[in-house]
Amino acid sequence: MTNKIRKAVFPAAGLGTRFLPATKASPKEMLPLVDKPLIQYSVEEAVNSGIESILIVTGREKSPIENHFDISFELEHILREKGKTEMFDQVRAIANIARISYTRQQQALGLGHAILQAKDFAENEAFAVLLADDVVDAEKPALRQMIEVYEKYNAPVIATMQVEGEAISRFGVIDADEVEPDVFKIKDMVEKPSFEDAPSDLAIIGRYILTPDIFDEIENTEKGAGGEIQITDAMRNLLKKRDFYAVKLQGTRHDAGDKLGFLIATVEFALKRHDLGEDFRKYLKSLEL
Ligand code: UTP
Repeated sequence: MTNKIRKAVFPAAGLGTRFLPATKASPKEMLPLVDKPLIQYSVEEAVNSGIESILIVTGREKSPIENHFDISFELEHILREKGKTEMFDQVRAIANIARISYTRQQQALGLGHAILQAKDFAENEAFAVLLADDVVDAEKPALRQMIEVYEKYNAPVIATMQVEGEAISRFGVIDADEVEPDVFKIKDMVEKPSFEDAPSDLAIIGRYILTPDIFDEIENTEKGAGGEIQITDAMRNLLKKRDFYAVKLQGTRHDAGDKLGFLIATVEFALKRHDLGEDFRKYLKSLEL
């Protein structure tokens, strides 16, 4: 069994109810931050972290994701005819970004259930899971940071970040000992605890490195919070049988599946753009707030 993380799973079958009505007939994963769909940011993060093969778990209404990573004959033809080489190269590069396959989760029964759809894809290898609506803006790709911890400890790794105050109760939360700066050995985890019951201020965010023994645990996991099969519950059961680590990511995480988080991410990304940043900054400064 290889110790290398070569495969990544992108659960993208959720209904995106926090972003209605935009997500009624369009995938949340295709919402753009400036001009790039959310899912492309995390696919690029995976590729820049060494991932070779990707499985996207989709559902109905999600075909724009497949089209985005496919060749667009008509568009490419027209761009070439008009001599728009740079745009052509940009569009073609997306189709060549990685080996991508797709499977469907027929019912949105929860993140754990979505990950279970990757059982055949993973075969007997550890694999990464990335949630596209968690966008991590980091110098070293977030998944790369996690793979380094996986390679050192040879155990599953989840991404965490510090969350101040009552907001912690919107997340899965870990109870853990710090074993080296920003690396934690997990003792327990709980999904969406009340503020008073939260075991720490370390929230689980949408990046995981999991081992294939997680699939048996998911299969044995009953519906939990929100009537969904939760990955946190399955991980919690596996935690009784093996070591689990967490890494506090360097970088800024945006919850782009939430309207306010999406707006903040849009502003941050726009300000960083060489072609737009300066004009956009001027515009923001002109607002009398
Ligand atoms: P979220 O809870 O953030 O996404 O799930 P959601 O369910 O699409 O959105 P809201 O909460 O209704 O607004 C986290 C990730 O898990 C995927 C989602 O697509 C998202 O990437 N997911 C969730 C599935 O693939 N299947 C599910 O049944 C549930």
